[in-house]
Amino acid sequence: MSHSESESKGHVRLIDLPVISDPRGDLTFLEGSRHVPFDIRRVYYLYNVPVDSERGGHAHRELEQVVFALSGSFRLKIDDGKTKSEYWLRDPKKGLYINKLIWREMDSFSQGAVCMVLASHPYDEADYYRDYDEFLKASKL
Ligand code: TYD
Repeated sequence: MSHSESESKGHVRLIDLPVISDPRGDLTFLEGSRHVPFDIRRVYYLYNVPVDSERGGHAHRELEQVVFALSGSFRLKIDDGKTKSEYWLRDPKKGLYINKLIWREMDSFSQGAVCMVLASHPYDEADYYRDYDEFLKASKL
């Protein structure tokens, strides 16, 4: 699946944040509901990730997220239950919006990579699909 197909279905899309650059460095900012399409209720980040680590491997019933590579890079594999696509995140001002009911897996973390995630809800294990077949069934409803 091409990026444009998955993006046109509203499942995922890249979000470009503003950047204020001057000789002292770059500054990027974001405001909930303005730069991301939900009120931010939670932020978490992954770091000290071994380069051969695989993360994710789940989907969410309601949760929406935006994922950033604040430092370094990694691959995000996206699956809407029908088609698959992948994104390489490596630019701290570009985030990937991921809607609910999208299976995601992350790997190929570079040394020192930092992955920051903005989330639309507090942590709730009951919101996870951790079983791929269960997710597949739900994605077809
Ligand atoms: P998980 O979402 O499975 O991590 P990943 O998708 O990066 O592999 O979460 C890993 C563990 O951390 C799991 O036991 C739940 C816990 N956790 C929280 O307690 N709060 C959170 O906000 C998150 C994201 C995870």
